Amino acid sequence: MKNDLVNKLRASRDLSDDELRELIESGRDDDALRSAADAVRREHYGDRVFLRGLIEFTNYCKNNCYYCGIRAGNAEAVRYRLSKEEILACCAEGYALGYRTFVLQGGEDPYFTDDLICDITAAIRKTYPECAITLSIGEKSRESYQRYYDAGANRYLLRHETANPLHYAKLHPEKMSSDDRKRCLWDLKEIGYQVGSGFMVGSPFQTTGDLIADLRFLQELQPDMIGIGPYITHHATPFSDMPSGSAELTLRLVSILRLMFPYVLLPATTALGTLLPDGRERGLRAGANVVMPNLSPTAVRRQYDLYENKICTGEESAQCRQCLEARVKAAGYRVVTDRGDVRR
Ligand code: SAM
Ligand code: FES
Repeated sequence: MKNDLVNKLRASRDLSDDELRELIESGRDDDALRSAADAVRREHYGDRVFLRGLIEFTNYCKNNCYYCGIRAGNAEAVRYRLSKEEILACCAEGYALGYRTFVLQGGEDPYFTDDLICDITAAIRKTYPECAITLSIGEKSRESYQRYYDAGANRYLLRHETANPLHYAKLHPEKMSSDDRKRCLWDLKEIGYQVGSGFMVGSPFQTTGDLIADLRFLQELQPDMIGIGPYITHHATPFSDMPSGSAELTLRLVSILRLMFPYVLLPATTALGTLLPDGRERGLRAGANVVMPNLSPTAVRRQYDLYENKICTGEESAQCRQCLEARVKAAGYRVVTDRGDVRR
């Protein structure tokens, strides 16, 4: 029965809600699902795996998402910000290591005004005209997104986190809303960004129905990139007693996403590598085709502490690059150093 569902999903890129539920809740044996996902990924992208150099440039955040280790209310967090010069130095190091995409990610830090984000973006654009610049700095007004785009940013990552507004309300303070987050994603798309969305797997109170809602929202949005990773508990959050999500379910969803969105850029995430020592390799074999090595200065990496035991906090950028290249190779794929634009 499971194989029938896999074949149907591969052929039609869709299933009914009941069928999706059955597949999501199915037992351990995911071999058929994984090999179908790998075949589809190879049809579209061959054995290529794209690199995105991740620069975590601030861990200050004005928000208080209940799951996140860098939430404003976590008084234990040791805060840092990188200067424009430090960010540019990370880009220079990344460029020398072969990266052609820089992802600037941070909490929602009011210190980084639109003027400053535009100034930094324009400086990167000027120095590296052929590189993709990705921002991941949360919810902003449409005008702000337009300004960043005009300054040279061309991609934006903003996970919708969960598409069900009731579930969203259980994960966030009252002043944050699922509608606002979705509005941001539509604005970004209309402006012309390549957009990445996604969700956590196994976040507190999540049901299979919520996961199906996530897949349906992604079908509407048709993003260029979909980032999913397991929710991992952080001790200094209101969810400190909640269990982490499952790597197995995350991997199953990676494969389902590959079959539903054959063209999509799908990272094997750090959170998956944190739950399982070979999590990123397994993510690649399940259908992922992107890895995001850390380019942040080693001195601050531990402080971008979203969840417990986050990996890749002790290594130099060059070590991360080598480590990931070896992991990609071990998984049976090949790192490429172009920008890795989506191939629809
Ligand atoms: N501020 C930006 C935003 O809101 O999109 C980017 C930074 S935010 C920390 C990046 C992502 O980390 C979130 O979209 C969320 O899915 C993920 N994240 C936060 N806390 C997490 C946790 N405890 N476990 C797994 N992922 C987490
Ligand atoms: Fe950073 Fe392996 S990817 S040390």
